[in-house]
Amino acid sequence: MTTTSTPSSTTKAQTVSDDALRLIDVDHVRFYVGNAKQAAHFYAYTFGFKLDQIADLTTGSRDEANYLLTQGNIRFILTSGLSLDHEAHDHVKRYGDGVRSIAFTVDDAEAAFNQAVKNGAEAENEPTTISNNDGSITTSAIKIYGRVIHTFVSRSGKYSLENVRKGGLISPAFAKVENYALNDYNQQNPCGLKYLDHCVGNVELGKMDYWVSWYENVLGFKLFKHFDDDDISTEYSALMSKVMDSGYGVIKFPINEPAPGKKKSQIQEYLDWHDNTAGVQHLAMRTNDELSSVTELNRRGVDFLYVPKEYYNEVWDRVNKMLKENGHDAVKEDHEKIKELGILVDADDEGYLLQLFTKPLQDRPTLFFEIICRRGSQSFGKGNFKALFESLEQEQERRGNL
Ligand SMILES: [Fe+2]
Repeated sequence: MTTTSTPSSTTKAQTVSDDALRLIDVDHVRFYVGNAKQAAHFYAYTFGFKLDQIADLTTGSRDEANYLLTQGNIRFILTSGLSLDHEAHDHVKRYGDGVRSIAFTVDDAEAAFNQAVKNGAEAENEPTTISNNDGSITTSAIKIYGRVIHTFVSRSGKYSLENVRKGGLISPAFAKVENYALNDYNQQNPCGLKYLDHCVGNVELGKMDYWVSWYENVLGFKLFKHFDDDDISTEYSALMSKVMDSGYGVIKFPINEPAPGKKKSQIQEYLDWHDNTAGVQHLAMRTNDELSSVTELNRRGVDFLYVPKEYYNEVWDRVNKMLKENGHDAVKEDHEKIKELGILVDADDEGYLLQLFTKPLQDRPTLFFEIICRRGSQSFGKGNFKALFESLEQEQERRGNL
């Protein structure tokens, strides 16, 4: 039998410490979408995710439908409202499909919630525990920018993170999906995505530093010092960005705000189509083999940003010079193949990275994905801003938003 309870926070609150906010992993990312059944099929096919678990009418979920997609250590939950008053409807009306929650696994979701609120977070959901004879999960949530939240999840028994990583049920409310043909296909044709590298938020003009301080004060994140810091804003970029580091090697959170440029900032375009509300701009997923991943994703019809071929006239000099100066080997991947696939390359004092961005994943120019492979570099592709922004401007132009 499954029971739900809301524990009182009496004794726990007195024992919380900074350790309460030790993040173990990105538990999952939850999207609110207009039609979860169809969206699940889109992400399963185009990005090679396994449609692993479901919680809908067939499993007794009367007010929402949830689909769990997994690949490597990435877990996405796609949620659509079933009941008339479900909040996903308003989210979709105002923002289109997008990210609602970035959830972290912690030791104790009640203690994490209490500590975050004590540190200044605004509460979204009080701690709630769902348990049965096999184990339990406790969840709580705090608000971040726009309508996005961070959910804390603590797990026990059958629902432990270790079991979830091996394909165990993510929550007592879910059931395993049987006989979904694409799952076999994806196993035979892997896209190679391993885990979330970073999650980028777009916030309103003048709000970047507010959220930098918020992440420092509430969650104990640190401003990530890296190669890009000195000149993150260029005449082409028309955005400002600072990167927050969760610590524990879990994830990084760059935060962007629009900046004045020659033309409309891509961040402003996002906000214009997102009901002037901050939100998640892109999720970057790590691969160990950029060329194989992009080849397979191309084959599946993923719509990547087009990189002008002229980009490759100068990129090798720039990148390999930087690598040589810092005592690193040159880019080992086939240069011609990189050009053919339109992959972006950048280097810093620690090494290089390969990256490529999709076009928006829905009709609005809002959320997109990045496929990234790091060979030492811990930065975010600053050297690609010029080429990238020219490509983005062409897309904005086509959408009539420049
Ligand atoms: Fe990125």
